Amino acid sequence: MRRAIYPGSFDPITNGHLDIIERGCKLFDEIIVAILVNPNKQPLFSIEEREEILSEVLKTINHYNCTILIEDFQGLLVEYAVKKNADVIVRGIRAVSDYEYELQMALMNRRLEPRIETVFMMPAEEYSYVSSRLVKEVFSLGGKIEGLVPESVEERMREKLHQG
Ligand code: PNS
Repeated sequence: MRRAIYPGSFDPITNGHLDIIERGCKLFDEIIVAILVNPNKQPLFSIEEREEILSEVLKTINHYNCTILIEDFQGLLVEYAVKKNADVIVRGIRAVSDYEYELQMALMNRRLEPRIETVFMMPAEEYSYVSSRLVKEVFSLGGKIEGLVPESVEERMREKLHQG
């Protein structure tokens, strides 16, 4: 039984994240999609909204034989991973520019907790430039984000924009 944690802010989840989760499903028996509760950041979507969005959009991907759970966590990722009895932390790497930061995190996490391995996965090329930050920026300035996030996410972003 291989259990992986896929941590992130997911504010909001993009098609790139979904692609990684679907690929991860081929490798692991269970994936916990773990949303970081970060009191230092002002998110677009609350933790509850992000959990709701995740459970909606995860229905649209192929789970193979993998169980996908959605949780949130605070504090050190490796402590959370140990508490959850996870073997692996999954991180998506898009371009070489991601690698340096991800390598630092992976090595720091290994130092803190050698029992947990970090696995880097590549999303499909079409998502190699997609990030939650860019999607939010483009959308808030009136740009098109079709195909970069699930339709329901775009819909919720539209609602947020009109609220604010
Ligand atoms: O999607 P993100 O925002 O790039 O995810 C970053 C995340 C959640 C993986 C990272 O910030 C994290 O692990 N935070 C938890 C605190 C922690 O363990 N920090 C030390 C990392 S070496």
